[in-house]
Amino acid sequence: MKHLSNNQFSANGFPRIRLRRNRLSEFSRKLVSENHLSVNDLIYPIFITYGSKVKEEISSMPGIYRYSLDLLQKEIEYISSLNIPAIALFPKIQNELKTPFGKEALNGNNLVCEAIRISKKVNPKLGVITDVALDPYTDHGHDGLIHNDQIDNDLTVDMLCKQAIVQVEAGCDIIAPSDMMDGRVGAIRNTLDDHGYINVQIMSYAAKYASSFYGPFRDAVGSVLNLSKKSKKSYQMDPANSAEALREIRLDINEGADMIIIKPGMPYLDIINKAKEEFNFPIIAYQVSGEYSMIKCAIQNGWFNEENIIFETLMSFKRAGCDGIITYFAPYIAKQMINKVL
Ligand code: PBG
Repeated sequence: MKHLSNNQFSANGFPRIRLRRNRLSEFSRKLVSENHLSVNDLIYPIFITYGSKVKEEISSMPGIYRYSLDLLQKEIEYISSLNIPAIALFPKIQNELKTPFGKEALNGNNLVCEAIRISKKVNPKLGVITDVALDPYTDHGHDGLIHNDQIDNDLTVDMLCKQAIVQVEAGCDIIAPSDMMDGRVGAIRNTLDDHGYINVQIMSYAAKYASSFYGPFRDAVGSVLNLSKKSKKSYQMDPANSAEALREIRLDINEGADMIIIKPGMPYLDIINKAKEEFNFPIIAYQVSGEYSMIKCAIQNGWFNEENIIFETLMSFKRAGCDGIITYFAPYIAKQMINKVL
């Protein structure tokens, strides 16, 4: 092919090819936009807590609340009115109920199970995703069980399978194991199938990094003091690694995951992109608590335009290759979308 450089400039020396032409008018920008964000992409995490008439703001997450069960119905109605397809439930239980083995996780009437029932009663069509991990229930704040001073993989997996069944019996649609134990997706799939729950989906946190961005979440579910200075590095991934993320994802897909989560979101867009190219499998990004709080604080200080910054960050997930996004901004952005066609 002839080298294009000869044609790049008109006789008068100005560029022939001007990429700005497509950007000049709004209609044209719409026509050439390569990625789209829709309310259908959103999953909203909701924090629930004990007591009644409780709607308490999480201090490290301005604008995000914990709801007691009696106030949950209103929140579910609101989320449903915005057409957000699914929620993810996270409990903050009483400290007295936390034990080394996290046995409250297996109580069929625990906070999460009651919340599932309420959600399904208010709107059976709203997808309900529940976390399978023990950190809200253990007095040490780890996702797994401790044996011989280690987070014991196989003991934990056994417990997670039971936790999954308890949640499914309460009516959740999707089990989301966020614990990073080895082999848990396969074990949970087998357990679900053995119990006849062949259509319950598994959305696995396949590549979950040991991240400081979870700080505000640990405050939200009340595990921050329990965990104290201990780290989750013996089971969550090293932020230095990406080939390992692909191994994790491959394993979870082979073990029967229906969708996979990459978490945190924005600092790991490279992983999302690699995973999409390698597997072309449903990928969900989790824009985690710390990402939310960083952005929200800058908005509150007037440093970012709220709507623009949120759209930009969510669009970056779509561009990287995500199908869905778990985000604390879901209601805000859904509301903006109702008000205008983008
Ligand atoms: C617990 C869990 C965490 C998050 C979701 N599930 C925290 C952790 O692993 O310590 C983080 C979510 C967020 O930061 O928004 N297994």
